[in-house]
Amino acid sequence: MAKTTLITGATSGIGAAFARELAAQGYNLGLIGRRTKLLQTLADELAAKHGICAEALSADLSTEAGQALAAGWIQAHAPLDLLINNAGFGIPGGFVAVPAEEHLSMLAVHADTTVHLTHAALPGMIEAGRGAIINVSSPAAYLPLPGNAMYAGTKAFLNIFSEALRAELRGTGIFIQVLLPGFTYSDFHKRGEYAKKDFYGTLPKWIWMTSEAVAQTSLRALDNGRLVCIPGLHNQVMVFLAQIGLAGFLLNSALLQKKYWSKKE
Ligand SMILES: NC(=O)c1ccc[n+]([C@@H]2O[C@H](COP(=O)([O-])OP(=O)(O)OC[C@H]3O[C@@H](n4cnc5c(N)ncnc54)[C@H](OP(=O)(O)O)[C@@H]3O)[C@@H](O)[C@H]2O)c1
Repeated sequence: MAKTTLITGATSGIGAAFARELAAQGYNLGLIGRRTKLLQTLADELAAKHGICAEALSADLSTEAGQALAAGWIQAHAPLDLLINNAGFGIPGGFVAVPAEEHLSMLAVHADTTVHLTHAALPGMIEAGRGAIINVSSPAAYLPLPGNAMYAGTKAFLNIFSEALRAELRGTGIFIQVLLPGFTYSDFHKRGEYAKKDFYGTLPKWIWMTSEAVAQTSLRALDNGRLVCIPGLHNQVMVFLAQIGLAGFLLNSALLQKKYWSKKE
């Protein structure tokens, strides 16, 4: 029987790359995002190319209605084989300068949605004795930098949540992975304030990975049962430096020099 996955944030970038990889492996797909036309085009393309079922679900995951729609889809397709909590975004800028609603929206997409959808998916997976969940975090989880408090905070939640859940689910046949991509080509740095800062133009090319490479590395790591997946040796080194308290200092100095944010922000 064909496997089924739900991918949040499948419109572009890493989520769309997961959709392409998994469709090629024969998975039926539920794809969630707000840019309905793009999502529908991707679903139609993958269904036609691979002979799978692909459903585009238009939902704003910062809202309870959007989260309920996604959770309802999971329950209707239980037991899900793979849930990918990938939807996310960044808001660079000082904590006070950014409106509180935007912070709360990030909390809802990164944390509330992950909790809600994981809670919806696990009962079916536990009953079936199989399944996997990938939570897309970031090395930022280890980097409490200025201008990034909510992003780092919400991603840190995903790390600890995933690790604790993995321990709790040991022996059930269910795998949890927390994925920490570094700088990745996607729509992430084309949105809002990020677009004004020209990350692509200024950061060295070697630091960037493609969304396809990130998704492929993650799926290989899942096959190997790895809890923490950090695609790219340079990102693994950065996380190591962050864990011993060095990367935050180095990155902060570099970014201040490039004037990505001022000390006042
Ligand atoms: N790119 C990087 O350098 C990088 C580095 C570390 C971690 N990450 C993480 O990787 C994940 C994927 O990001 P990406 O790089 O692939 O960026 P992206 O191309 O901008 O993709 C983000 C996805 O999230 C969806 N999304 C955002 N807000 C949403 C909302 N309120 N409701 C529903 N969907 C929403 C977007 O869909 P719509 O726009 O259609 O709503 C889009 O499909 C994120 O969790 C991000 O934090 C990215």
